[in-house]
Amino acid sequence: MKKVGVLGSGVVGRTLAEGFEKHGYEVMLGTGNPNKLSDWQSGTNGKVASFERAASFGDLIVLAVKGTAAAKIVEQVKVGISGKTVLDVTNPIADGVAKDGVQALFTGPDESLMEKLQELVPDAFFVKAFNCVNNKLMVNPPKSKAVVMNICGNDGPAKKEAKEVLTQFGFKSKDVGDAAAAREIELAAIAL
Ligand SMILES: NC(=O)c1ccc[n+]([C@@H]2O[C@H](COP(=O)([O-])OP(=O)(O)OC[C@H]3O[C@@H](n4cnc5c(N)ncnc54)[C@H](OP(=O)(O)O)[C@@H]3O)[C@@H](O)[C@H]2O)c1
Repeated sequence: MKKVGVLGSGVVGRTLAEGFEKHGYEVMLGTGNPNKLSDWQSGTNGKVASFERAASFGDLIVLAVKGTAAAKIVEQVKVGISGKTVLDVTNPIADGVAKDGVQALFTGPDESLMEKLQELVPDAFFVKAFNCVNNKLMVNPPKSKAVVMNICGNDGPAKKEAKEVLTQFGFKSKDVGDAAAAREIELAAIAL
C-alpha cells in the first residue's frame, strides 16, 4: 500500500488525508501539536505524528500548512521530503484581513511560494496542486464542479504522479509548466 505523509492539520490537511485513505493509501498526518487531533486519531483515519515523522513516513508528501509557516516547516522536514514528490497545496496569503474583499499575498509579482520552497529543498520534487480548490470540493467533487486543475513543477515523473492522484480524486489536470508557473496558479487562488 502506498504511504502518504500529509503535513498539515487544518481543514485541508484533514480533508486530503481522509481522501487518500478512501483511495486506499496508508496515511500519516503531520502537525506541530499531535495532541490536538486526539479525536481524529482515534477514528479510522490513519495516524497522527510530528511534521518530521509524517514526512519520513510518506512515499508521497502533501504540504497543506499555512502559507506564512510553510518555509519554516519545509526546513524542518528537509531530510524526510528529499527525493519525494511534494504536492504543494499552500497559498502565500498574507496575515491580516482582506482589503475590499481582496486577500493580500506576501509574495511579489515575479515570485511564488512554491519556487521559494523548491529552492529550500532542491532535491524534493514540488508540484503545485489542489491550491485553487475549496476544501469542500477537494475529494471527488460532483462532475459539474470538478474544475480542470492546473499543476506545475520542475520534475516530469513527479507531475505524472500528481496527475494520477488528481485522476483518483476526480479531477482532470493540465500541466502548465515548470515551478515558475506557480506565480500564476497561486494568484488564481485569491478568488477562493
Ligand atoms: N481552506 C481551503 O479551502 C484552502 C483551499 C486551497 C488551499 N488552501 C491552502 O492550504 C493550506 C492549509 O489551509 P487550512 O485552511 O487547512 O489551514 P491553515 O490554518 O492555513 O494551516 C493549518 C496548518 O498550518 C500550521 N501552522 C499554522 N501557523 C503556524 C505557525 N505559525 N507555525 C507552524 N505551523 C503553523 C498548523 O500547524 P499545527 O498542525 O501545529 O496546528 C496546521 O498544520 C494554506 O496554505 C491555504 O492557503 C486552503
